[in-house]
Amino acid sequence: MSAQRQEAVRRITAPEITARKGKEPVVCLTAYTAPVAEILDAHCDLLLVGDSVGMVVHGLPNTVGVTMEMMILHGQAVMRAAKRAMVVVDMPFGSYEGSKETAYENAARILKETGCQAVKVESGPTIPETIAYLVRRGIPVMGHVGLRPQSVLVDGAFKAKGRQEAERARVVAEAEATADAGAFCVVVEGVAEALARDITAAIEVPTIGIGASAGCDGQILVTDDMLGLFDWTPKFVRRYADLRGEIARAAGAYAEDVRARRFPAAEETYFAKAKG
Ligand code: KIV
Repeated sequence: MSAQRQEAVRRITAPEITARKGKEPVVCLTAYTAPVAEILDAHCDLLLVGDSVGMVVHGLPNTVGVTMEMMILHGQAVMRAAKRAMVVVDMPFGSYEGSKETAYENAARILKETGCQAVKVESGPTIPETIAYLVRRGIPVMGHVGLRPQSVLVDGAFKAKGRQEAERARVVAEAEATADAGAFCVVVEGVAEALARDITAAIEVPTIGIGASAGCDGQILVTDDMLGLFDWTPKFVRRYADLRGEIARAAGAYAEDVRARRFPAAEETYFAKAKG
């Protein structure tokens, strides 16, 4: 074996995430680029290349316009940098709802072209059948219930779910069907605490909450939200940094230096070598 061969870092697997049910919380964040994935890798069990990339990175109004090509490109970037965390890539709107066969083709393409370990789908009423079809064919699937951002055109806005009794029962039933279909864990988004606790008690795989209280088995946030890159964030986001302020301060200082001819200085300049 070559002395230069780097020691292999073992990546966290889908069964290992499933085995965390009711144990140590599962730490997840979104990642879309190689440099950020490299930083997050040491701290997270799971990195999600979420279709939120459409809004966060590409400035789209919602996730409906996100394409397979966008997901694959960002999935490849994250996979080049993350060595330890499990990497899951979102299936974009329109890539899995039409038929389970189309879902399989697109999910297999995501796995093959990015090297990621699983895909995520938003679990509407017809989707558990598709999840079972994918899992039986070797594709690990993460589910997503509660507020489903890809349904924004039907819902009219990003609205928290489960405020009425009938809706609560429907969301629990969807989570149960998603877990029974073989999802290795389930994202629970935008639901009241009582509903998050009901779902977590009802299913045998970990629930990963976003805006879904501490009653879940793990948590995920959109990284750019928790780093403070936007001037508005939803109530459930805790800002751990103020990158927006920090970037504005750095850009302002750079602009002042360029205008005053203070940048570049001698230490940032190449000079011709003296003739020997
Ligand atoms: O696309 C995304 O980032 C997500 C998370 C919010 C769970 O689905």
